[in-house]
Amino acid sequence: MTRPLLVNGHLWGVTSRHPLTTDLIEWYANHARPLPWRSAPNPYSTWLSEVILQQTRVDQGTAYWERFMVAFPTVTDLANATTDEVMALWKGLGYYSRARNLHNAARHIVTELDGVFPANAEEWRRLPGVGAYTAAAISSICYGEPVPVVDGNVQRVMSRLYDIEDPVDRKAGREAVEVACRAHLDAESPGDSNQAWMELGALICSPRAPQCQRCPIAHGCLARERGTAANRPVKQPKKAAVEVEVQFTIPTRKGQDGKVQWWVERRPEIGIWSQLEAFPCTISPLSPVAQGLFAAGEHGGELRFGPVPHVLTHRKMTAWFTCAEMRQDAGMSEPESPGRWVDVEGGVANWPRLIDKVLPELRTWIVKI
Ligand code: ADE
Repeated sequence: MTRPLLVNGHLWGVTSRHPLTTDLIEWYANHARPLPWRSAPNPYSTWLSEVILQQTRVDQGTAYWERFMVAFPTVTDLANATTDEVMALWKGLGYYSRARNLHNAARHIVTELDGVFPANAEEWRRLPGVGAYTAAAISSICYGEPVPVVDGNVQRVMSRLYDIEDPVDRKAGREAVEVACRAHLDAESPGDSNQAWMELGALICSPRAPQCQRCPIAHGCLARERGTAANRPVKQPKKAAVEVEVQFTIPTRKGQDGKVQWWVERRPEIGIWSQLEAFPCTISPLSPVAQGLFAAGEHGGELRFGPVPHVLTHRKMTAWFTCAEMRQDAGMSEPESPGRWVDVEGGVANWPRLIDKVLPELRTWIVKI
């Protein structure tokens, strides 16, 4: 078998179906995981699975997909759901803009497109949150459109197969991967072909310990031949996570029934924890709301709860919670920003993870002070 040659970003000597693709598809037919969205793919269920899997592992994402499909079996059900319902089901998956975009796109499909899904990858890409990867996955799997899917798994596989030395997150490396993907796409069954490449990356060609002895295309792999697999893909050095301090100010009061309540606000659409509910906060420096409450002198003295460490992809957070008791007899009514009082012991469906993980301790602390 002649190996195709990657020269200046172009593949040479490739026929309609590359022999390695044939080997891979045969392997996929015997080894594909029986994932629930694969049994009877349709645009809605596939779209949902791909959005969930963008930043989530299959073993974690499957349960979320199943819960979504039970709660919102169709795009109309999703479009008719409230933001709180969608966010509550998404909780724990992180990257909440995915859920917000999914919900907005469902509403767009129902109200603007009469409930008809976009007909091809290009049209899918016009929806909020649908990028090249998601559009290609849906269109190839559900419509048989011959567009290659390039996700992290595929990048890794191709960068090893062709021993690509350019960083795959820069133009030259990205293009080399794309050329390889196009050359290895089976136009007859693009959905299976795309999923087979992803599956190989997920099951065999793993980041740290690739199982080359089980790989159906090891005989064609340049990185294996040259011993460079551990160094592929090459990536640009990551920027260090930014360290930030989060100051939560928890307005509290005694409700009519004597129960302690705290004040929560809906987070703005743009930025961190978008659309979730949280206490007023500033991510260093201190916000006007918090400054106002501190200035009023009713902030529970020096009592602070924390530090609570919390790590997001690009941020290393240290959170502090300060109680600000709103005393009617001191002329304080409630914070000026829009929000609501909730019983401390009651439930808020949409806390950020940072708050959720310390909620029992936070409740005990706030009721005691
Ligand atoms: N990762 C994301 N989507 C996938 C799919 N359809 N098959 C395999 N792995 C995936």
